[in-house]
Amino acid sequence: MTDQAFVLGIDVGTSAIKVLAVDPDGTILATASEPHPVQSPRTGWSEQEPDQWYDATVEGIRRLLKESGLDPSKVRALGFAGQMHGLVTLDENMASIRPAILWNDQRSASICLEETERLGLDVLLKNTGNRMLPGFTAPKLLWMRKHEPEAYARIAHVLLPKDHLRFRMGSALATDMSDASGTSVFDCGARAWSQTMLESLDLPAEWWPEAFESTEVVDHLNAATAEATGLPEGIPLIAGAGDQAASAVGTGAVEEGMVSTTIGTSGVVFAATDTWRHPPDGSLHAFCHAVPGTWHLMGVMLNAAACFEWFCRELMPDIMSEAESAHEDPYERIAGEAESVTPGAEGLFFLPYLTGERTPHVDPHARGGFIGLSPQHGRPHLARAVLEGATYGLMDCLELVRRTGVDPRSIRLSGGGAGGRLWRRLCTDIFDLPTITTTTTEGTGYGAALLAGVGCGFWGSVREACKRTVHEKDRLEPGPDRDFYRAGHERYQALYPALQTWWARG
Ligand code: XUL
Repeated sequence: MTDQAFVLGIDVGTSAIKVLAVDPDGTILATASEPHPVQSPRTGWSEQEPDQWYDATVEGIRRLLKESGLDPSKVRALGFAGQMHGLVTLDENMASIRPAILWNDQRSASICLEETERLGLDVLLKNTGNRMLPGFTAPKLLWMRKHEPEAYARIAHVLLPKDHLRFRMGSALATDMSDASGTSVFDCGARAWSQTMLESLDLPAEWWPEAFESTEVVDHLNAATAEATGLPEGIPLIAGAGDQAASAVGTGAVEEGMVSTTIGTSGVVFAATDTWRHPPDGSLHAFCHAVPGTWHLMGVMLNAAACFEWFCRELMPDIMSEAESAHEDPYERIAGEAESVTPGAEGLFFLPYLTGERTPHVDPHARGGFIGLSPQHGRPHLARAVLEGATYGLMDCLELVRRTGVDPRSIRLSGGGAGGRLWRRLCTDIFDLPTITTTTTEGTGYGAALLAGVGCGFWGSVREACKRTVHEKDRLEPGPDRDFYRAGHERYQALYPALQTWWARG
């Protein structure tokens, strides 16, 4: 056992809960991960039971403490990060009314179109800084009002995923400004709920939790969770952040113009900004950052690592199980096969829009595809095309970020995909910029821990925390394939317009 104080960062991911223990030097003392399933009762739907986040977190903390031997009495605060936009509805007894509707659920697509038409894009941008998109929270409530009126009539409170977890671990209904930004009813410029939007959509203001800056202490650990986890009752619970803002903190993207990319289930290009601004057409999200008083711009593709996971699971099950029985990382084994194929996979392209897309194409009807198949293509070609296609999608987001005047000199990478050798090389060559990995590729959970550390006084501010703890691990320079990929990206960009109307006819 160590005498060192530490904090816990908890990331409510889409596929797992991750817990990290971090000390005041920024050293990761221990980690644990507990997977949880996503239910898709219909095409385009994506749901999870909110209480399963709590159960998985309790299990994760217990396992982390047991396996590491860390002394629970030395925990000073818990910080939270999570999948954004998910709708959790609670009744007046604080019980969850229905499964949470997640960020990648497309059921509110037509509602978003109708409301944008009714209110006008300019009104949405003026009051929130953003378009109303199917993944966002408020349109899901409008969907419930229309399709599940009895359940809707029972709503007393609305929470986002990490905030529901914090509520179950303490007692307060609270959120933070970065996560509130993705609801369609938060005025990101003013850092407050938009009364105009709530009135226009006829959504009660009292349903929404108070919004705090990400480093604020909003609650304390309750007795039941203390007993279930072995942690001391009453330790501070910090507001935390949406997973993308937390991930940017975890990789040190906290100053104007710094750009990071997270390759998780989704794929994100994120630019920190010190002043409030949004693209005039809403082509990027403009949200509050987890650094108090600052903002960020971001492009979000719905499926990045999700494409490669799907491909490996469905088309490479034999190699997956072979690698698993040899205790090798199955994704790296398959990426290794993809490496044996030349750049461009001999003319094969992959479109990553498995569940529709958000950036750069707001299109719930788009779908994935392999284009250019010929008899010489084998599974390694397909694997390479999937990784290249998902990275071209990220490049689309980076182009939009550049159009706002941000001119990055390098990109900070995090998320599961960023750990892969080939994927990292592809990001570096396709972005044509040096890529940097930092202290950990688990940027989101690390960011949650840093926010907790600021909240309990380990560091004076988020920027100070990042200076003290986030270190450049290594830097990769673009290689000779960059020119090839510039042309490849142009060919890739021609595919979406060619197929758009075909998907829309569905
Ligand atoms: C961000 C977004 C996703 C989710 C899941 O806007 O929708 O990144 O937060 O990670």
